[in-house]
Amino acid sequence: QQTQKRHAIEDEIAQLFAPEDDGLRHALQAAKEGGLPEIQINPIQGKLLQVFAAANQSRKILEIGSLAGYSGIWLARALPADGRLISLELEPRHAEVIRASFAHAGLADRTEVRVGNALDLLPGLQAAAPFDLIFIDADKAGYPQYLEWAIKLSRPGSIIIADNCVRDGRVFTASPDMDADTAGLVKYNQLTREHPRLTTIVLANDNDYTDGFNVAVVK
Ligand code: DHB
Ligand code: MG
Repeated sequence: QQTQKRHAIEDEIAQLFAPEDDGLRHALQAAKEGGLPEIQINPIQGKLLQVFAAANQSRKILEIGSLAGYSGIWLARALPADGRLISLELEPRHAEVIRASFAHAGLADRTEVRVGNALDLLPGLQAAAPFDLIFIDADKAGYPQYLEWAIKLSRPGSIIIADNCVRDGRVFTASPDMDADTAGLVKYNQLTREHPRLTTIVLANDNDYTDGFNVAVVK
C-alpha cells in the first residue's frame, strides 16, 4: 500500500518535472538494440543532474562511464551552446552507439566521447580542467581513484556526483567478505564523508530507496 503510493507519487513527479524527450527515448532504444548495459539513472536523477549543473552554471562537464548515453544527454542538455561534455567510455563499440545517440539528440556540437580506460584518459584532461560537474558511473572498484582525479580536475564550487552509492545499504561500512566493487563503493562513501575539501550527502533516490547518488561539493 505504502509502496504503491510512493511509486504513484514518484511517477507523477517524473511526469511533471522530468519528462523524457525523443533524444532520451531514442538513446534507450539504441542501447537496447546495441546490447549496451541498460542500467541507466532514472529521469528524476537525470533532472537532478541538470539542477546541479544549473546551480553552479556548469560549462564543462566530465562523465566517467557513459553506459547508455542516457545520463550524458541529461547532462549535455544543461550546458550552454558553447559548453562541453566529455564522456569517458571503455568499450569502443558502445562509444559509437553513444555518439550516434548524442547526435540524434542534437548534441553533437557540445559532446565528446573518449574511448579507453578512464585511469589512462584522466591525466590527459588536465588541460581541459577545471570541470564544473563530474559524474562518476563506471566500474565500482575504480571509484576511489576516480574521486582522486575528480578532485584534481575540479575547482571550488565543482560538484562531484557518483551513482550507485547506496546499493541496498551494503556500501556504508566495510565487511570482511565484500567483493572489489563493494569495497570501492564503501571506500568512496568514506573518502567523500571525511574529505576536508568536500561537503557530501548520499541521496537514496533510485530503485525504491535501495540505491542512489553520492553528491559532493568541492570547497
Ligand atoms: C551496475 C552498474 C551501474 O552503474 C548501475 O547503475 C547499476 C548496476 C552493475 O554493474 O551491475
Ligand atoms: Mg550506475
